[in-house]
This record gives sequence, C-alpha cells and structure tokens, in this order.
Amino acid sequence: MQLAIIGTGYVGLVTGTCFAETGNNVVCIDIDQRKIESLKQGKTPIYEPGLDVLLERNIKERRLQFTTSITEGIADARVIFLALPTPPGKDGSADLQYVLQVADDLSKIITKYTVIVNKSTVPVGTAEKVAAVLAQRLDRSLYDVVSNPEFLREGVAVDDFLKPDRVVIGSSSEKARKVMDELYQPFVRQGNPIYFMDERSSEMTKYAANSYLAMRISFMNEMANLCEKAGANVDWVRIGMGADSRIGKRFLFPGIGYGGSCFPKDVKALAHTAMEMDYDYKLVNVVMHVNDLQKKILGGKVRNYFGSDLSGLTFAVWGLSFKPETDDIRDAPALDLIEELTGAGAKLRVFDPEGMNNVRQLMGDKVHYAEDQYDALEGASALIIVTEWSEFRNPDFDRIASILVHPAIFDGRNVYSMEKMQTLGFYYESIGRKVVHPHVRETLAVQDGSIIRERGTMD
Ligand code: UDX
Repeated sequence: MQLAIIGTGYVGLVTGTCFAETGNNVVCIDIDQRKIESLKQGKTPIYEPGLDVLLERNIKERRLQFTTSITEGIADARVIFLALPTPPGKDGSADLQYVLQVADDLSKIITKYTVIVNKSTVPVGTAEKVAAVLAQRLDRSLYDVVSNPEFLREGVAVDDFLKPDRVVIGSSSEKARKVMDELYQPFVRQGNPIYFMDERSSEMTKYAANSYLAMRISFMNEMANLCEKAGANVDWVRIGMGADSRIGKRFLFPGIGYGGSCFPKDVKALAHTAMEMDYDYKLVNVVMHVNDLQKKILGGKVRNYFGSDLSGLTFAVWGLSFKPETDDIRDAPALDLIEELTGAGAKLRVFDPEGMNNVRQLMGDKVHYAEDQYDALEGASALIIVTEWSEFRNPDFDRIASILVHPAIFDGRNVYSMEKMQTLGFYYESIGRKVVHPHVRETLAVQDGSIIRERGTMD
C-alpha cells in the first residue's frame, strides 16, 4: 500500500520504517530540511535500537523515501498518517496547532479518497476537529479520519510496532476500517487483536492506558516510601503483589518518578480534558503530585546524609536519560536532581551511555561530562544512580570503592540486591528498602553546643 507519514519525529519515523519493512511504499514528510537530508542518507536523528538497520534496508529497497514537499509526498497515498507534535500548552492541554494546520494544508491538495490517521496522542474529539477542517474544502466522499494511537515504548519501539499487544482503530467508516485492517494484518499474525471502535473511545484509550500505567508507578513509589518507614522491603512487596494475576508483574517498579515524552504530558492532558468536561478526575491529579514529589526523593536522601549545604562536595551521577536504551531526556528525573544538587552547591560528574549530548545542549557546563562511568567517580563523595542502564548493573565494586572519596551509593532504581550490598561495605540507600550501613567510623564532636557527626572511612 502507498502511505505517507507527516512528521518524522520518534513516532513518525518508527511508524514509517516499520510499515516499509512489511512491504508498503512509504514517503515520510517533514518541514525540517536538514533532518530529511540526513534521513535520506540513512542517518536516524534518534537513538532507538534496531531502527537504523531497518531504515537503511528499506531506503536501499526503495520502499522508504523522504521529502519536505507535502504535495509530492502524499501524491499517491491511500493512507496519510499524522505523526505531529502535540506539545502541552500552558494550561496542560495538548496543543493541536500543528495537526490542524496540516489538516488545512491537506484540504487543499487531496484529490482522491484518502484515509487520514491521527497517530499523535490527541485529546478526545480531535478526529472530529480534523474532519471539520477537511470539510471546509473537501467533498465528504474524499476522506475519512481515523484515530489510531501508538503504544510504543522508547528503547523497544521497533519491536512494539512489529509485534503489538493490540492495535486500536477508532473509525465509524466501514471503508476506512477495511483499509486499516488490511494495513495492520501483517502485524497481528500471532493472534493479537485489532480492536475497532469509535473515534472518541480510541482517543480516550491512549490516555487511559498511559495514565493507568503512571498511576501504578505513583502507587508503587508511595508504597516504597511507606516500606522505608515500616522497615519492609518493597522488592518483596512488589513480587508478592505482582504474582496475583489480577495485578500482574509489570510496571510495578518504584524509582524516582516517571519521565519521558509521554507519561507526564498525557497524564496532564487527561486531567485537563476532564476539567474541560467539568469532571474533577481526582486520582489523575494525585498521580502527578506524587510524581513531582518522588523526583525529589533521591536528592533529599543525599542532602539528608551530607547536609543541606553541599558546597565543596562532588557527586558522580550514573544515568541521565529518562530510562535505559534511549537518549531522550525529556522530563527526565536526572534534570531535577541536577538542579537540586548543583543548587545546593554540589559539583556533579555525570555519565550516560547515550544521553550526554542532549544534557550538554540543555545544561552546558553546569556539570562535568565524564569520559566513562568510572571517570565520573573521581573525587566524588558518593555515587548516585538515576537510570538503570544494563552496564551499571554489575560494575567493578572494588574499583568504585577505590576511586570514591567516601564509599556511599544512592540508588534511585534499586539496581543492586540488598544481599550483595550487605557484603560490600558501602553506605547504600535505595528506594523502599532498608539503608545498608557499612562499618564506618563515626566521630561525634560537639561544636557550638550541637553534636556534629563526622563519618570516617571504613574500618
Ligand atoms: C510510554 C508507554 O509505555 C507507551 O505505551 C506509550 O506509547 C508512550 O509512553 P515510554 O515513555 O517510552 O512509553 O516509557 P516506559 O517504558 O513506559 O516508561 C515510562 C517511565 O516510567 C520511565 O521514566 C520509567 O523509568 C518509569 N517506570 C516504568 C517506572 O518508574 N516504573 C516501572 O515499573 C515502569
């Protein structure tokens, strides 16, 4: 099938490449000339495992093409996907200006029946808005507007696209449903379903799924905080509750808050949609509040231990991207941590396998960018783990202990087992688990009438 994808951001690029991989002819369109030029050379602007190989192969096979001309790009398209940004507006609502502008452009150039698909995450009612813009110039027989939300996770987006748990299609047109069914059949051969529903339910499904997952995370983050107070281990609690098939094991990992381009934006947009419809979605508001607080948890632990004034102290930070296997730092908890600790006077030496350039662009020389994970430890009073990249899972602990000025690790993702940390001699704080105290020499001194705790090196 001949397809056009408008917008070559993360979703558009993965969508276009994966549709080409299943034999369709795809033209990806973007207004960014430089991006289009480099994509033509097979260079992807984002780090997404597996995408570069598929991109190269499909360009070579001439199933995937790139252009800045919307007229040229959609010329033969039977289906046009809109994968455009919907950034949060000031009030938290999703800003539809790009989507509606492109709809307007399309209304001037479509000449034969075309299915127009909203792939971007858009509020309930957007399919109707797009249809209304098209209706200003086009005869009703020339288009159908479909909602087809994506459920891609960064880092595994190619796999998620090629083997989706489900495909959701919102359309009240039989003709459009047929086209979409034909297009998606190759992706559901293993028996996973394509659900056809109305446009509004489909649009809501995306927000419901993301907000529900965000709610699980906020629930577990609060549970972890309570476990710390109760002397329980949240790892066991998570395993114990996740074994119940009604709950399930996935997405129950506590940490230092969710980030990324979807959860924060989508939860906020759902709260806003509810407000617009005069419904106070209390739970969704609490999910956001808990997440804001959780992003401060790790910095709080560091300051609790070292004191609120961190001047003169250096810390190593491992992990900057909002999660492993991506260079995306949008709404990454690491950014809040950097602001908090540098604001308190600390110097930071940071390392991330893929996210360094993005942080450099955003933060400049606010922090030192280390050569590798061990270089980050030089002169540091503690190691702070923010993102659970695989390469941080089994490091050389002797080397860490020998470089750190003070043997302390603050782990925001529970990367290490308690059993292991109890044998190693670090001061170790994680999320929702007991603090591991090494055998430290503590000297208590009285200064100006108050007790000063001085922590020495290990015995
Ligand atoms: C998410 C949805 O999973 C995806 O379906 C949607 O299309 C886009 O948003 P993504 O943002 O790529 O995908 O990341 P995801 O793996 O879902 O993680 C989101 C955030 O939640 C990350 O910050 C991650 O660290 C955090 N998280 C995830 C937890 O804190 N605990 C968990 O158990 C799982």
